[in-house]
Amino acid sequence: MSQRLEELRRLLNQASYAYYVLDRPIMSDEVYDRLYRELVELEAEYPELITPDSPTQRVGEHPATDGSGANRPKFVSVRHRLPLYSLDNAFTWEEMVAWQERCRRLTQAELTYICELKIDGAALALTYENGVLVRGATRGDGMVGEDITPNVKTIRSIPLRLLGTAPSVLEVRGEAFLSLENFHRLNTERQQAGEPLFANPRNATAGTLRQLDAKIVAQRRLDFFAYQAFGYPDTIKTQAEVLEYLHSQGFKVIPYREICPSLEAVRAYYDRFSTQRHDLPFQTDGVVVKIQDLAVQQELGYTQKFPRWAIAWKYPAQEVPTIVNAITIQIGRTGAATPVAELQPVQLAGTTVTRASLHNRERLEELDLHVGDTVIVRKAGEIIPEVVQVIRELRPPGAQKFVFPHRCPECATELEKSSTEAITRCPNPQCPAVIRGAIAHWVSRDALDIPGIGEKLIAQLVGKNLVRSVADLYRLSLAELVKLDRLGEKSASKILAALEKSKRQPWGKVLYGLGIRHVGSVTAQLIAQHFTADRLAQARVEELTQLHGIGTEIAQAVVEWWQDPHNRALMAELQGMGFNLGSVPGERLEQQSLAGKTFVITGTLPQLSRAEAKAKIESLGGKVTDSVSKNTSYVVVGENPGSKLEKAQKLGIPLLNPDQLLELLRNV
Ligand code: IVH
Repeated sequence: MSQRLEELRRLLNQASYAYYVLDRPIMSDEVYDRLYRELVELEAEYPELITPDSPTQRVGEHPATDGSGANRPKFVSVRHRLPLYSLDNAFTWEEMVAWQERCRRLTQAELTYICELKIDGAALALTYENGVLVRGATRGDGMVGEDITPNVKTIRSIPLRLLGTAPSVLEVRGEAFLSLENFHRLNTERQQAGEPLFANPRNATAGTLRQLDAKIVAQRRLDFFAYQAFGYPDTIKTQAEVLEYLHSQGFKVIPYREICPSLEAVRAYYDRFSTQRHDLPFQTDGVVVKIQDLAVQQELGYTQKFPRWAIAWKYPAQEVPTIVNAITIQIGRTGAATPVAELQPVQLAGTTVTRASLHNRERLEELDLHVGDTVIVRKAGEIIPEVVQVIRELRPPGAQKFVFPHRCPECATELEKSSTEAITRCPNPQCPAVIRGAIAHWVSRDALDIPGIGEKLIAQLVGKNLVRSVADLYRLSLAELVKLDRLGEKSASKILAALEKSKRQPWGKVLYGLGIRHVGSVTAQLIAQHFTADRLAQARVEELTQLHGIGTEIAQAVVEWWQDPHNRALMAELQGMGFNLGSVPGERLEQQSLAGKTFVITGTLPQLSRAEAKAKIESLGGKVTDSVSKNTSYVVVGENPGSKLEKAQKLGIPLLNPDQLLELLRNV
C-alpha cells in the first residue's frame, strides 16, 4: 500500500507542477480529482504513512512560478477584495433534495431558484473603477490570484469601459472560456507544430490566461460570460436582475438561464440540458443552481469554502481512472480479435464499467499497456467505454507487458493479421466464439428478433455442441433445451415457438441476420428489395453496385459470402426450413425486381423473340429502349449485334448474352 501511496503522491505533485508551473497539464481535472481522492482515502486509512510532501498537505494552491525554482511569480499576486468561493457539488437528485432541506432549515423564506449553465472555463475577477476596467485577475486559491490585466483586455466580450452609469467600484466575476471551435482549432495548430495538446477547453483556457505574451492570448480568442457582481445599485434584488444589469453594462452573461419556482423545475432544466448541452458551442459540465432572491442568499451565507445559496449539479464524469486487472482477447462474429481491458469496477457516466475496449493490436501497442496499470477510461455518448491513456507513473513494479497471442484463445487456430485493415482475425469459421457471435447476431432485434436467447444460453448451446450454425437452432428439441441450466419447460417452449415464428420474418431481416460483413440492416433491406436469395447467389459485383448506396466494398463482401460453400449450404438449409428468402410468389419483390432498370437489345436472340423479351422485362418493372446511353443498365447482345454494342463498350455498360438474360428473367 505504501508503494501506491508513494506513486500517487509523486504523480499528483508532478501533475500540479505540469498544470501550474509549466501550463502543460498531463491529465484532466476529473482524473486529478479522482486520484487525489484515492490518496485522501488511503491516507485516512493509513495516517502513519502521510508525508509532509503529500499534495494533501498543501494549503491552497500556489500561484504559478517561472519554473526556475526561485518561486518568482510570472504575474503579480493580488489579494481579492472579496474571496472567490468555489461551489459545492451534487451528482444526484437526492443530493439536491438534501441541499434544499439544508436551505430550508436556515430560512423561512419561500425558495425560488435560478438555473444557469456551468461553463467549463476559468473564473475571472474584474475590477472597474469609475466605469473603467483597471484589473483582471485569476481565481488563484480564492484569496490571492494573479493580475493578468493585459491578457484580460484581449477578450473582446469584456468591456474596457462600462456602458451604463457606473458605480465608483464594480467587481464583476464570470467564466473565461474557449468555444469548442476555437479549442479544436488551437489543438490542430498545436498538433501541426508538434506541441503538446490541451486535454480540454478548460485546461486550454487556464493555460491561455496565464500566457506571458498577450498577443498569443489575443490570437486564441477567449470569450467570457459574467455571472456575479459586487457594487451594483441596491435596487437590484435578485440574481436574474444582477445578470440583466451586467448585460446592460456591456457584458455577455450566462445564457439559457431560467427561473425555477421549485426543485422539480430545476430537475427539468437539468434533464433538458443533459442532452442539449452537447449541441452548445461551448463546454458545460453541469448546472449551477442559485437562490434567486439576494436577501435570502445573504441570510443563507457561506461555509468556509462555498456559498450555501448555490450548488453545482454536475453531469456524470465522462473520464475516470481505474486499474487494469487483466487483458483478454474477445473474438467477434467476424473472427476479429479485440483486446479488452478487464477493469477494477468504476462509476462512469452513470454506469458501472468493468470492461473497456482496447480496439486492436496496434492501439494496444501504442498504449504500451501492462497488467496492473492505472488507466483513464472514457465514455463518449452511447459508445462503449475505451481506454484512452495509461498513467505510466502509476505502473506497479514488475508489471507485465501484455503480449498479443499468436493463437485464438478459443480454438487455438493461428490468428491472421489483415493486410488491409488494423484487424487481427481468427480465420476459423468453426471457432466457438465466431459461432456464438453469429447466433447472437441472428437472434438480435434488427435481425430475426428472437426473444429468450441470451448470451448465457448461446454459450451453453455452443459449448455443448448442440448448435454449430444458425440452422441448428431450428433443430433443437424441447428435451434438449430443458436439460440446459436454468431453463424450465415453459421458457424452453416459448423459445421454440419464437424460433418457429422467426421463419416468417421478411427476407431483409434474414439477410441482415446472416451477418455478412459491411451489410448493416439498412443495406440488407435495400439489397433484399432488389434481389432474392437465389439471385444474390449469382449476382456480380457490378450488378450490386448499381443499387444506390451499395459500394464495391459491400458488393464484394456479398459476392464473397456466397462463394463460400458453407454459406451456400446454410442457405439451402434455411430454404428447406421454409424461411422467406424473397421468393414468395406475388410479392412486390417478384413484380418489381427490375424496377428502374433499362435494357437495350441488339442482335437476334435465339430462344426468345424481341417482343417476348420486352414483355417479360416490362412485366418485372424494367424498361426496354432503343438507344444506348449512360443511363442504360444492361445491353443484351444477341447474334450479329449492331453499333449499339460498340457504344455500350465505350460507355462501360454491363453486357448480357442471351443465356444470361434468360437466367436473369428466371431468377428475379
Ligand atoms: S457562481 C460564489 N456560476 O464554477 C459562487 N460559477 O466549481 C461563484 N462556474 O469557480 C460561482 N459557471 O469558475 C457560478 N454560472 C456559473 C458558473 C460558475 C461556471 C465556475 C466558476 C467557479 C466554479 C465552481
